[in-house]
Amino acid sequence: MGRTGHQCLSSGNPDLILTSCNRYFIFHKFGNLNFLSIMRVLVLGGNSEIGFAAAEQFAVKEKAEIILASRNIKETEKKARQLVDAYGVSARAMPFDARDFDSHRDFYDRMDPKPSVVIQAFGVLMNQDECQNDFQKAKKGFDINLLGAVNILEIIAADFEDRGTGVIIGISSVAGERGRKSSYMYASSKAGLTTYLDGLRHRLYGSGARVITVLPGFVKTKMVAGRKPKFGSTPLPTTGKDIYNAWKKGKHKIYTGAKMRWIMAIVRNIPEWLVLRNRNI
Ligand SMILES: NC(=O)c1ccc[n+]([C@@H]2O[C@H](COP(=O)([O-])OP(=O)(O)OC[C@H]3O[C@@H](n4cnc5c(N)ncnc54)[C@H](OP(=O)(O)O)[C@@H]3O)[C@@H](O)[C@H]2O)c1
Repeated sequence: MGRTGHQCLSSGNPDLILTSCNRYFIFHKFGNLNFLSIMRVLVLGGNSEIGFAAAEQFAVKEKAEIILASRNIKETEKKARQLVDAYGVSARAMPFDARDFDSHRDFYDRMDPKPSVVIQAFGVLMNQDECQNDFQKAKKGFDINLLGAVNILEIIAADFEDRGTGVIIGISSVAGERGRKSSYMYASSKAGLTTYLDGLRHRLYGSGARVITVLPGFVKTKMVAGRKPKFGSTPLPTTGKDIYNAWKKGKHKIYTGAKMRWIMAIVRNIPEWLVLRNRNI
């Protein structure tokens, strides 16, 4: 990757027309030719506040083109416009539904050129009581948090593997590290996602493509509105910066915020008998 100074380049492909200054470019080598292209970041679940905070970092620091993909397309378009206005980058919205598995291949095939970074940010906080009492509610949560992620990321991973480049950033949760009676439905969907991302990282290792797992603790977003954090919360901008820095520094797996990795080291090691006796978690 390199940085260019003041220049305007153009080619037959409209996506390779570079009009602004001091942008970062990714250099792709094809035989003896070097092609320059803008870094392109796809946010799956582009209305996610965490996903958007990470996208802002790529917009500010890499002047990347941002593609926000989500269900509520009106909201996604508004957010894309915000990025254009605030950071002067290219940004656009695409409809994407994690539960509409059959649409995923077509969704990705239609992306031309392909992204170099994909942030998988969609997710739902599953209501434990509802999911215990109604399997369809539980299934809906697993379909989004786990199966939707697996389906679209397998398609993207195959493309990244073929091209020998690309970074997948999967947003899972610390909740997946320990099952508790108050939240084990959501937690197990995230545990599945974390393990899936571990395996995908292992598969792609050495191919040129990378996988980063992000494990946030509590971040004040619309997802957790009205809830109180048990171990404090990580500010949204810090979470966005941590995700960007994980990409920049070539990390494999990160907790967001300064304290969370230490808190989780303790939580993971609390003996099971002690967890079982605590009825308030
Ligand atoms: N906030 C936290 O404390 C916290 C902690 C740990 C992990 N996480 C994880 O971080 C990720 C982002 O969460 P957030 O806090 O940013 O929550 P958020 O602002 O509520 O964003 C979640 C987004 O997921 C999208 N989504 C839901 N179902 C979808 C579907 N079927 N297809 C496509 N998009 C769908 C929604 O988009 P639409 O608006 O388009 O429906 C929603 O905006 C989630 O995976 C969450 O589990 C969050």
